[in-house]
Amino acid sequence: MNLPSKVTLVDVGPRDGLQNEKEPVATAHKAQLVAMLQTAGLKEIEVTSFVSPKWVPQMADNAALMAAIERRPGVRYSVLTPNLQGLQAALPTRPDEIVVFAAATEAFSQKNINCSIAESIDRFAPVVALAHEAGIKVRGALSCALGCPYQGEVSADEVERLVLLFKGIGVDHLGVADTIGVGTPRKVQDAMARALKHYPLEQVSGHFHDTYGQALANIYACLEMGVYIFDSSVAGLGGCPYAKGATGNVATEDVVFMLDGLGIETGIDIDKLVDAGLFISDALGRLPVSRVGRALLAKRAG
Ligand code: HMG
Ligand code: MG
Repeated sequence: MNLPSKVTLVDVGPRDGLQNEKEPVATAHKAQLVAMLQTAGLKEIEVTSFVSPKWVPQMADNAALMAAIERRPGVRYSVLTPNLQGLQAALPTRPDEIVVFAAATEAFSQKNINCSIAESIDRFAPVVALAHEAGIKVRGALSCALGCPYQGEVSADEVERLVLLFKGIGVDHLGVADTIGVGTPRKVQDAMARALKHYPLEQVSGHFHDTYGQALANIYACLEMGVYIFDSSVAGLGGCPYAKGATGNVATEDVVFMLDGLGIETGIDIDKLVDAGLFISDALGRLPVSRVGRALLAKRAG
């Protein structure tokens, strides 16, 4: 079986990883995390979100953080924008890519963005158009593609329905997101197949929270289909404010270790990545969640 020879990882740690932190994380620490991820070789970083600070207080420093990061050539910086207000606030901060996010289920859509699926698509349409006018690529994140904390099972047909809605408003890239980490490899392949019916391989990615420990297996299942872009979160940071009990994204360190073992190129230096994970975990006063991060730190200490 031919797996891709290269994989692109999008580190969503500064955004998805930190958005759920109860105590404010200093903007300087977030900027330092972005810097360390770049030093480790990450070329795609999801920095922050331009959402309501009443809903997600941790992201309230969005513009300050975008101004504080030291941008390096060849690195792309993305931000979440749930509506025109978010995009208008984001545009002066010069993101390379914006992310709109919808859910496969009505209940999650209401809890996360306070509107129905249809309303969310109506809201995103002018966001996509304005972003394109500004020459900015738009990623669409499809939450609850493998299951919903409120409605349970989600079928591949429901996933495809949302894929088509995103495509209908001109979203450039489709991210299949397992918000609560309940997906297993064959189900993930079924969902991915629906995305790949309507989007080319280079515009489809996987976003797997590791709540049930399935994320690496799910990434491998995607590699078998040729999918080569994945979101991950350094140190396994994260959780979703609107999906109780959901843990972070799959840890970037764990994905890189697996890909290194498979001989798949990522351009990421695992030791420097572990440094980044240790830095932010220290700032949060805890150990990295990443199994690989912990193992390599134990090896260093020994
Ligand atoms: P709403 O309350 O329905 O919005 O929220 P509204 O348009 O009625 O406005 C109400 C107030 O919010 C107004 O302020 C607006 O100015 C303000 P007030 O007049 O009351 O002072 N407002 C904003 N402020 C700043 N930035 C904005 C903005 N929009 C309105 N963009 C809204 C709707 C979508 C804004 C809200 O529900 C929200 O911000 N939700 C947060 C959603 C979120 O961040 N979720 C986590 C990220 S998604 C995720 O983690 C999933 C993902 O990782 C994939 C996966 O794993 O599934 C991507
Ligand atoms: Mg997520």
